[in-house]
Amino acid sequence: MSNLSFLSKKGAAASKSPMRIDLEIYYEAMENLYHPETNPSGALPMNVAENHLCWEMLRDRIQKVTRENTIPEWVASYTDPAGAPSFREATAEFLSKFLMHVPVNPDSLAFSGGATSTIEMTSFLLANPGDTAVIPAPSYPVYSGDIGTLPEVKRFDLQVPSKPINSEYQFDLQLLQEAKEKIEANGSNFRMLILTQPDNPTGRIYSESLLRKIADWCIQNQIHLIVNEIYGLSQLDIQNPNLKAFYPQASPFVSFGKIMSEYQSPFLHFWYSFSKDFGISGFRIGLLHSHNEDLIQAYRNAGLGHSISNYTQWVIQEVLLDHGFLKTFFESFQQKLTESYLIVTQTLKKLNIPFNPSRGSLFVWMDLSEFLEEKSLKGEEKLWLEIYEKTGILITPTNGFGHSEKGWYRIVITSLSHEELKVAMKRLSDFIQIKRKG
Ligand SMILES: Cc1ncc(COP(=O)(O)O)c(C=O)c1O
Repeated sequence: MSNLSFLSKKGAAASKSPMRIDLEIYYEAMENLYHPETNPSGALPMNVAENHLCWEMLRDRIQKVTRENTIPEWVASYTDPAGAPSFREATAEFLSKFLMHVPVNPDSLAFSGGATSTIEMTSFLLANPGDTAVIPAPSYPVYSGDIGTLPEVKRFDLQVPSKPINSEYQFDLQLLQEAKEKIEANGSNFRMLILTQPDNPTGRIYSESLLRKIADWCIQNQIHLIVNEIYGLSQLDIQNPNLKAFYPQASPFVSFGKIMSEYQSPFLHFWYSFSKDFGISGFRIGLLHSHNEDLIQAYRNAGLGHSISNYTQWVIQEVLLDHGFLKTFFESFQQKLTESYLIVTQTLKKLNIPFNPSRGSLFVWMDLSEFLEEKSLKGEEKLWLEIYEKTGILITPTNGFGHSEKGWYRIVITSLSHEELKVAMKRLSDFIQIKRKG
């Protein structure tokens, strides 16, 4: 008898569903990392959305906290499952000053272990099993598991026009109306709309006017709109002289938090996490912001199992209170991010590889369709593996982004230092040139 028979139905299904299909190969690459002297032909993993650009700076600041302070009493005991009051206050001030530019009430925040857990909790509290969440495609593959595995919410990949390629989303509300009719005809409920800005993988943002139109439509239709701004401060400096010309009519980035503070609607919500902008995915801090008091209370009542360690909350709260440090940190990060983006996109331009111009995130979304032997998932997988085997560069496999166009790949630009990124781009150029020679 298989051991699976001792698991629940969900347990048995989970035991057969890896979180992502590239994990095994990622661990293999991590065992064989590139080093200029000791392993010059080693692997260059660029598949997982890690930001290593400013870790040293943040590590020093965190170590200052732990070196110079005594751990406060409250850290050793239970606290509010939605987040310790002092941590919620420090985060509210941080969000207000650096991202939303409106006052943020600490009571509108609820925390859990990373955005992953926040997405799962929010979906479970807002939607019933069998309801549907609509997500513009392409989008973050792991949304499917976060909304699906425990909350049992279905994912509907909204196919937004991909041409002309653009750094801002442009779609008609009619698209949402059509999705609603299709979902209802299939016997489900369009319960949530999930937007990500800057987007994973395209780096697109939403103009303020489009965000407002979408918010109005959702409120009218009693659909929960959640904007995930996990990459909210991973913004490119589009005033950089090497970038400016590519963004002739750029809308300013406007956080959805600003619109929410004006609308005060129970249907509008916001996600954030410290994993990407701060580059501390291992600390596991995610948050929900909402003016729906019942939702925050439900999160608090049901969230103990997802709560964050008080030690983590305390250490990060002390860093968040140092606004002078945060200002320097984000200036330095955005400058380094822009440099990483330029290293990758200038290579792609030289190679004539199309890519989506980005406003932020940790990615470049590029079109390698000319190298597909077959315009199918199988063809995409073959090329993905070939790139890894021949160059040691591990990019993200295409499976699960939910879009219909074949041959687009996501490359993470912040998992490597600038020197390593240049080595990766040299290897990619050689690969592409050899491929084109046939
Ligand atoms: C859009 C999006 N949401 C959520 C997550 C998960 O973040 P966390 O590490 O905070 O759980 C990611 C990570 O890549 C992401 O890209």
